[in-house]
Amino acid sequence: MIDFWTRAARSEDLDAIAALSDAAFGGPDEGRIIRQLQADGDSLASLVAETETGIVGHIEFFRILIDGNPAGAGLGPMSANPGLQKSGIGCYLVRTGLDELDMLGETIVFVLGHKTCYPRFGFEAEKAAPFTAPWAGPHFMAIRLAPGGPASGTLTYPRAFSG
Ligand SMILES: CC(C)(COP(=O)(O)OP(=O)(O)OC[C@H]1O[C@@H](n2cnc3c(N)ncnc32)[C@H](O)[C@@H]1OP(=O)(O)O)[C@@H](O)C(=O)NCCC(=O)NCCS
Repeated sequence: MIDFWTRAARSEDLDAIAALSDAAFGGPDEGRIIRQLQADGDSLASLVAETETGIVGHIEFFRILIDGNPAGAGLGPMSANPGLQKSGIGCYLVRTGLDELDMLGETIVFVLGHKTCYPRFGFEAEKAAPFTAPWAGPHFMAIRLAPGGPASGTLTYPRAFSG
């Protein structure tokens, strides 16, 4: 059990977030995506988990266009300090982030991730299936936070994800 709290990321956190991400993913790709999402104004929410010693977790949520409209959100990348994984940081960041998006008025959040992990938060592949995206299948899931918003459509991801 470790003592951590969450807060909105600030611009001066970006280097620490990228370093955390590089360590968790074992390479620079996700850190580059995070930097580009911020630079392009495509980030919707960026949260860090912090302890007395600094940033130990991070989660990013970004804008997804549905049929060209700013009606969807995406989850990722996310990371936890490799030395502190499996102590609840990741799950707490997902739940806190979804609450934040709900408060911001977002109605649907998409994720491409572990099919054994995300259903525990309410993500379902069935909810994502009516949407056309660069990916499909059991790892492509969505959670509806509130009624309203499109039930189908074509998703456009931020250019940070096009490599
Ligand atoms: C994925 C990750 C962020 C989870 O953080 P964590 O602090 O270890 O997660 P928690 O302790 O809250 O979660 C515990 C459980 O949920 C799983 N989990 C939580 N968030 C997850 C996620 N985004 N993807 C996969 N599994 C996740 C954990 O594997 C673990 O599974 P278990 O209950 O079956 O043992 C962390 O392991 C990490 O940084 N991994 C490397 C980067 C990565 O793969 N990110 C996810 C893809 S964007």
